[in-house]
Amino acid sequence: MRDHAYVPYSNFKVGAALRGAQGGLHVGCNVENVAYPQGTCAEAGAIAAMCAAGETRITEVFVIADSPAPVPPCGGCRQKLREFAGPDVLVTMATIDGKTLTMTMEALLPGAFTAAHMERV
Ligand code: THU
Repeated sequence: MRDHAYVPYSNFKVGAALRGAQGGLHVGCNVENVAYPQGTCAEAGAIAAMCAAGETRITEVFVIADSPAPVPPCGGCRQKLREFAGPDVLVTMATIDGKTLTMTMEALLPGAFTAAHMERV
């Protein structure tokens, strides 16, 4: 998936894969834009692919980049992932030379804002 990244500005290719609760595997890569803030992360692309495939629950996340150490999802992507992934979902970050780091969604985004915070009792 990294090979499909469109990264003329950073030259930093990222690939993401999500396992859906119905068993699907959904992938995405980062897609940059000359108007820099309009670029999208690999995780966001994978989420869009998952929704397009009709899935809305994530059971596992994998992110890979050519980096000295495993690259964690950016803050915005942590929130985007948390929309579809519970606190116990494992997020594995990997480098292309085989280093990995696995953390839970809750460890990456402690105390996340969720729909439950908008419920009135
Ligand atoms: N990027 C991702 O796609 N996912 C991450 O988890 C970290 C950063 C992308 C955004 C941008 O295209 C490039 O990496 C450099 O920030």
